[in-house]
Amino acid sequence: MHRHAYSNGQVAYPSVGGSGTFSIQPHKFQPRSQPGSLRRRRTLIQRILLVGGLFFTALFFFYPDLRPNLGSGPLSYLSSSDDAQLETVRYYDLSNVQGTARGWEREERILLCAPLRDASPHLDMFFGHLRNLTYPHNLIDLAFLVGDSKDNTLSKLHDKLEELQANPDPKQQFGEVSIMEKDFGQKVNQDVESRHGFAAQAGRRKSMAQARNWLLSAALRPTHSWVYWRDVDVETAPFTILEDLMRHNKDVIVPNVWRPLPDWLGGEQPYDLNSWQESETALALADTLDEDAVIVEGYAEYATWRPHLAYLRDPYGDPDMEMEIDGVGGVSILAKAKVFRQGAHFPAFSFEKHAETEGFGKMAKRMKFSVVGLPHYTIWHLYEPSVDDIRHMEEMEKERKAKEAEEAAKKERLDKIKDQFDSKSSDWEKEKAEVQNLVQKAKSEEKEKEAEAKEGAKKEEVKKEEAKKEEAKKEEAKKEEAKKPGEQPKQARNFQEPDEIHEVRGYDEKKKAEPKQPENPDAVL
Ligand SMILES: *[C@@H]1O[C@H](CO)[C@@H](O)[C@H](O)[C@H]1NC(C)=O
Repeated sequence: MHRHAYSNGQVAYPSVGGSGTFSIQPHKFQPRSQPGSLRRRRTLIQRILLVGGLFFTALFFFYPDLRPNLGSGPLSYLSSSDDAQLETVRYYDLSNVQGTARGWEREERILLCAPLRDASPHLDMFFGHLRNLTYPHNLIDLAFLVGDSKDNTLSKLHDKLEELQANPDPKQQFGEVSIMEKDFGQKVNQDVESRHGFAAQAGRRKSMAQARNWLLSAALRPTHSWVYWRDVDVETAPFTILEDLMRHNKDVIVPNVWRPLPDWLGGEQPYDLNSWQESETALALADTLDEDAVIVEGYAEYATWRPHLAYLRDPYGDPDMEMEIDGVGGVSILAKAKVFRQGAHFPAFSFEKHAETEGFGKMAKRMKFSVVGLPHYTIWHLYEPSVDDIRHMEEMEKERKAKEAEEAAKKERLDKIKDQFDSKSSDWEKEKAEVQNLVQKAKSEEKEKEAEAKEGAKKEEVKKEEAKKEEAKKEEAKKEEAKKPGEQPKQARNFQEPDEIHEVRGYDEKKKAEPKQPENPDAVL
């Protein structure tokens, strides 16, 4: 499809350039008055002229035909002047594509550039963002550079583009789409650790710079007023970002770029440290470095003490606040196309000790373009956990599982104890009942005893009465005995012995006080 836009142009080349258009007649009927050698020489010269003429004529026609798509933009039109009547000639007034604050009203075209490398996992999200852009889609041309990819970035890109451009609403369809394929021999692995490791930075930044330059130089048309660079791994950005940035009417402008973090890492973090203001410390450091050295920001190896756009963010700050910067990050750059037309680019070498986007910022600044960052206008880069983060998260997961297991075990233990307590308490209830029974029994026994004791006391009274009666009888008898001499002292002594009487009484009492065992069956237990 669009990928073959240019080859279609080349296909058109032989048909349009058919040399039959011009037939220059050879001078057949000239008199043969001159000598043979002279005639042969003239014929040779004529043939050379003829071939040369044909060649240049063809060239003159072929060249404009190589770019048949250039006329599709609304700002490109054929000059009405008579000297450009040829359909294949395009005329562009580049003073019309300088870029203004309200480009959408003037139908200013934006070239959206996205370098892709192993980007397949992010394409769904990226195309979601494209669809949501509020800037008129027909004014946005898309250009992708696919390079050094080992995944299916290219085929997925095709699918996503077909889906995007199949939108039945013509206003939702984007303009021209170009896909460039070129490897830059990036050997650095694309995983987070390798990409962000200090040692890999300079080389990586240089090949990224080349990729950007190739992409831009191949895709920039005379119809473009703006160039927007956007990374595919932006997670959250306002749909109005193009208008928001454009309104500032700066030559180069970038938003602040942060990234969300898991809660255990603090919730959020500055992401793009490549947008910064120059500092005296950094300039002094740059002076000490080798001519080819490249300073990369955000690494302990280069303590530059530069004010970073990222760290100046205030979530409640004015999103329109501007800050002059020198280095720019590449996540989301809106630049006027004239900046590139004038010659600024992404240095793939050390330019003022910087390369790629940071070098581009410095170069644009050096060329007296305005370079600005918005500290309080923030877009959010995808959070990709580093190897350390992943390890930490695995540990946390393990801890979480261990804790869960522990909680479960604790609960089980508690449940068991509760069960046991329940059964114990029922045992206890039983025991209590038994104890109460025993107490009850003891009480009733006591009562019985008491009752028996009372009865015993009554009987005693009765016995005492009887004893008294007996005594009285004995006294009677004694008195009678006293009347008889002889046997009297023995009897008297025996009778006076109180112990004897007591003993008789005691024996009687003992026998009667013996408790009668109650017939309570519980007591047997
Ligand atoms: C695009 O907009 C829709 C609707 O507002 C939203 O659900 C979706 O998340 C947006 N996509 C992106 C990538 O922001």
